[in-house]
Amino acid sequence: MKIAVLPGDGIGPEIVAEAVKVLKALDLRFEMESAPVGGAAYDVAGHPLPESTLKLALGADAVLFGAVGDWKYDTLDRPLRPEQAILGLRKHLGLFANFRPAICYPQLTHASSLKPELVAGLDILIVRELTGDIYFGQPRGRRTAVDGHFPGAEEAFDTMRYSKPEIERIAHVAFQAARQRAGGRGGKLTSVDKANVLETFQFWKDIVTEVHAQYPDVKLDHLYVDNAAMQLVKAPKAFDVIVTGNMFGDILSDEAAMLTGSIGMLPSASLNAKNQGLYEPSHGSAPDIAGKGVANPLATILSAAMMLRYSLNQAEAAARIERAVDTVLSQGLRTGDIWREGDTRVGTVAMGDAVLAALNAQG
Ligand code: IPM
Ligand code: MN
Repeated sequence: MKIAVLPGDGIGPEIVAEAVKVLKALDLRFEMESAPVGGAAYDVAGHPLPESTLKLALGADAVLFGAVGDWKYDTLDRPLRPEQAILGLRKHLGLFANFRPAICYPQLTHASSLKPELVAGLDILIVRELTGDIYFGQPRGRRTAVDGHFPGAEEAFDTMRYSKPEIERIAHVAFQAARQRAGGRGGKLTSVDKANVLETFQFWKDIVTEVHAQYPDVKLDHLYVDNAAMQLVKAPKAFDVIVTGNMFGDILSDEAAMLTGSIGMLPSASLNAKNQGLYEPSHGSAPDIAGKGVANPLATILSAAMMLRYSLNQAEAAARIERAVDTVLSQGLRTGDIWREGDTRVGTVAMGDAVLAALNAQG
């Protein structure tokens, strides 16, 4: 088993180092190899996703990814910006299925901006399609308008599109996730679209409905994306699994993450058809706190746990990491993002050490 470790920019190297430390302590047989990605790769190789980094990722069973991006690269041409690295990895590895859990840890219920009773026990999963939609649709670009409100004016355009197989495969993934969370039968899936306006999402809704015939035990409902955004803050616990396209999934998953009050806690997984996966925290590179040793490494550590479960067939080791994280939270240890009066404030490395200690204490 081989893991490609891509720390990236900002707090990426600090949080990934803690996850690597935890992985090494498990005494499992796998090889880890690091490579630069994002702005860090641009600095040394002139490209955010150098050939050698891509090759390492393609040849690995899983990729552990930190974060990319920094304001200092904002003036580069789009193909050279750090964000292109993650988009390129998704495309080249075919990582079409993105899992973004939003879990409200009982120890952290107070961190949410919503009333505790609305989020206590929250456990939802967003399944975001990750390689299609307006993110990758061609054509896109700039040109002189020949029609529209201002013919002759300069304009920019993108293309929203989904093919039937693309929708089918993500629908299957989502129905199966709903069923699995319900213990093998049942569960609930909400498909989010904009079928009232967009042809692409009327198609989406039709195909998801068609695939549903193969999962009669799973309850399916459909919401327009604007209503879904509203329901997420009104009654988040009414959701179980949400499936949606790339763009809506980007937006709703940030909203869902914030319901828990602690985006520093949330892992994510992006899988292809071969269960090769890329695992990364749901948060970004946070350049404002980079290098200060204060970032929360738990989302990355939990991403490593997801990696063990989904790509490396080590469900038991994954559960051990998750239990260790639960232990340190119960001990009252908190990085700044989740700290409040009465908690013990710790930095990145101390938090990683505490997870390690909890892991070793499990025997
Ligand atoms: C995410 C990020 C990316 C996205 C950016 C960095 C390209 O926001 O993973 O959600 O929009 O998908
Ligand atoms: Mn996003």
